[in-house]
Amino acid sequence: MAAWLSRRALSGNSSCRLPLYLFSEGHVCSRGVGRTFSALQDKLQTVEDLPRVSSLEMIYRFIFQGYYYCLHELQIYEKKLYGPIYKNGRKAVSVTTPQLLEELMRKDEKFPSRGDMSLWTEYRELRGLGYGPFTEEGERWYNMRVVLNKRMLHPRDSAQYSRVINEVVTDFIKGIKQLRQASPTGDLVPDISSRFYLFSLEGIASILFETRLGCLRNEIPAGTEEFINSIAQMFSSSLPVAIFPKWSRNLLPYWGRYIASWDGIFSFGKILIDKKMEEIQQRVENNQTVEGEYLTYLLSNTKMSTKDVYASVTELLLAGVDTTSNTLTWALYQLSKNPEIQDRLYEEVSTLVPADRIPTAAEVTGMPFLRAVIKETLRMYPVVSINSRIITEQPVSLGGYRFPKKTVFTLCHYAISHDENTFPEPFRFKPERWLRDGRQRPNPFGSIPFGYGVRGCVGRRIAELEMYLVLFRLIREFEIKARANMDELKIVSRAVLVPDKQLDLHFVDR
Ligand code: HEM
Repeated sequence: MAAWLSRRALSGNSSCRLPLYLFSEGHVCSRGVGRTFSALQDKLQTVEDLPRVSSLEMIYRFIFQGYYYCLHELQIYEKKLYGPIYKNGRKAVSVTTPQLLEELMRKDEKFPSRGDMSLWTEYRELRGLGYGPFTEEGERWYNMRVVLNKRMLHPRDSAQYSRVINEVVTDFIKGIKQLRQASPTGDLVPDISSRFYLFSLEGIASILFETRLGCLRNEIPAGTEEFINSIAQMFSSSLPVAIFPKWSRNLLPYWGRYIASWDGIFSFGKILIDKKMEEIQQRVENNQTVEGEYLTYLLSNTKMSTKDVYASVTELLLAGVDTTSNTLTWALYQLSKNPEIQDRLYEEVSTLVPADRIPTAAEVTGMPFLRAVIKETLRMYPVVSINSRIITEQPVSLGGYRFPKKTVFTLCHYAISHDENTFPEPFRFKPERWLRDGRQRPNPFGSIPFGYGVRGCVGRRIAELEMYLVLFRLIREFEIKARANMDELKIVSRAVLVPDKQLDLHFVDR
């Protein structure tokens, strides 16, 4: 990923990464093809009766049908073949409709689990490091979330960060203006997703470390670039780690790269955390008050060891970059293609806040159309397009079938949020679906981009605030236009959904 960001930032290639619960199951099946689901439902009652994908079919579809980089499309393809529920190639059960997702999510346990995270925990064990919210499980996970949620998950808490996010937005817009000036037409910004990547990294780091990294300056600080490269490398070497047998680790280079990348990620976090700890120590020694936001709060919390803080902050940092940056890229892409929707958004942002004022958190979160634009973007391009849950405590019934405890369920969010019955014209960008203006609103489980329940995304409010604040300022200041003859962007399914090519946009002064 390291290579990725620097590649993206400097040259403009697309790629990505993110949490590896996404790799925890396979997807593809064999029996039952050709039969309709309703016929199956009449006959089948146990897990053994479900349509099933074989490993061979999975491999065939990945390699010969080309689904390896389009796993999101594979979800829709298989839903057509097997219906709303089927057993996939890795003994997990795929769920593909909002109704079944709701039924399952409502059975979420006290300590919900996404399943095997050994891909990440192995490194932590090897280095004697702690676990963060992604990797921790059970009661320890729960206690950690109680601490992490505070100052982050409630809209009131995230609003505290609006000043710092707005500062980052101001720098981001300055950078956009510089790039425009340097372009032949005076308004073209090349590779907007690499800019959003830097924006998201700067934003989340300024919240977590209470420090500006300087990613939006002309020269990216050296340590930052190495960190970016480490994340890229960690994600790109994750797949071989997941699929190759352990004995090959000493023979092939991927394992060494994987470990080195995690070393780079953790050491970056450690340097910033240690710096903060020294500052706090200094202030305590000088009898000064210790003030600060998130990291200071975590470090002073007696329920979290320093080891937990290192691991948690590092995992938060990892989760906070590709997610918001890709969503913003897709949002601008859709707005550039749909000028009438952009006009409607402009009308909202230009009338609800005076032109010379930077908006507050309360103002942007109160804007229905701005929110609807982000919600629709996340429906069409769910960052986490596939997720999972294991019900560990007891057998569970779902969709008329009975499953033994410890069954792994694969949640096919892309197929679910493109369900035609829930979202007519599912491939069209229609933010108005989400407005509370008297129309019938879609089933809420049709699109749950931040997950569900107590294990849902801890960064949700921060992410929303970042996206609202930057989108507001961009649309108020510029008309965003697609480049002439721009090709349609296609989705590539990496750890998150990324565009298949660079997106260059015109930022025309309003
Ligand atoms: C567009 C932005 C984002 C989206 C769509 C998103 C989505 C998600 C989803 C779907 C999950 C899994 C939830 C579940 O299993 O029910 C998740 C987990 C998580 N997210 Fe986000 N996320 C975003 C931004 C962020 C940010 C900015 C942060 C950091 C501040 C963050 C930190 C996390 C963490 C730590 C978890 C693991 C929570 C746990 O297992 O307890 N996310 N996110």
